[in-house]
Amino acid sequence: MEKELQQIKETILEEVKKIKDSQVLRDLELKYLGRKGELTTILRGLTKLDGEDKKKVGALANTIKNEIYTVFKDLKSSIEEKGREEFVDVTLPGKKSERGHLHPITLIQNELEDVFSSMGFMVLDGPELESEYYNFEALNIPAHHPARDMQDTFYIQGNETEKGAGGKSDLVMRTHTSPVQVRAMQKYGAPLRCVAPGRVYRCEATDAVHEHTFDQMEGLMIDENISISNMIAVMKELLKGVFGREMEVRVRPGYFPFVEPGIELDIKCTICGGAKCPSCKHSGWLEILPAGMVHPNVLRHGGIDPDKYSGFAFGLGLTRLAMMKYGINDIRLFNGGDLRFLKQF
Ligand code: PHE
Repeated sequence: MEKELQQIKETILEEVKKIKDSQVLRDLELKYLGRKGELTTILRGLTKLDGEDKKKVGALANTIKNEIYTVFKDLKSSIEEKGREEFVDVTLPGKKSERGHLHPITLIQNELEDVFSSMGFMVLDGPELESEYYNFEALNIPAHHPARDMQDTFYIQGNETEKGAGGKSDLVMRTHTSPVQVRAMQKYGAPLRCVAPGRVYRCEATDAVHEHTFDQMEGLMIDENISISNMIAVMKELLKGVFGREMEVRVRPGYFPFVEPGIELDIKCTICGGAKCPSCKHSGWLEILPAGMVHPNVLRHGGIDPDKYSGFAFGLGLTRLAMMKYGINDIRLFNGGDLRFLKQF
């Protein structure tokens, strides 16, 4: 009998080791400790023993029974504990994750890219760290030319060998997207239709309408017999695409060394409706679209024959356009990182 008890204890302990879930544990409990369980049956057999034997075997049986009970109890609570850790209440309402959204400049850039794609323009990229050659020289602004002072430039240490620059060329943060004009001409030749949106940099004091970092979109169209009327038509289409209606505009002569003739296209200030405010420098109008016919020297730098081809170019102020469209009265908001501002778009 003692042997039998030891035997069953070992079997139980052996089987218990393999258990990982509570159902199997319950089955095992029933098998050994239930009313008809194996251990219970042996214990019941104790009554048939007599005297000393009963005492001795009874004590052993009790110890083994308690031992087995403890093992079952511990195992049960450890399985329950694990179950609690893994429990996921799928009926709980989820945490609302905030969705990101596009920056107002990106929104307006995307809209314009669509307008221009529909007119057969490619969308191009150019480097923001640009050579002086492409930023100035190739655009008909030679070194020491007073026109270099029109744009306050961040000069960067270092230089680069540029095709056409006749050697090394210093580096600048591009002051406009116009350098992409000559890059595009050299790469694709004529005829050519492209826009090039991107960031530009000027060493300027900051106020409601000036920022050191802002966005432009360059436009360029070159073909045989391109005239100013083509230019005006495309620019009108562009403004209609952005504002969804015909815009009130005025055209003034403008000077840029890389176009001849050059013009400035202004739109009626959308902040004050022409009543004059700080956003339009109290003029009622906003300079938004400088443009002109590409200068023959620029075509030559791009490897295009000015006797055969002509073209127009414009440099749209994307940042300013976004201000007009959304009625934003301070340019510093765009890169200011204030989420209260950005979340409105
Ligand atoms: N690049 C000029 C500027 O930023 C704008 C411009 C582009 C003017 C193309 C004419 C033609 O000031």
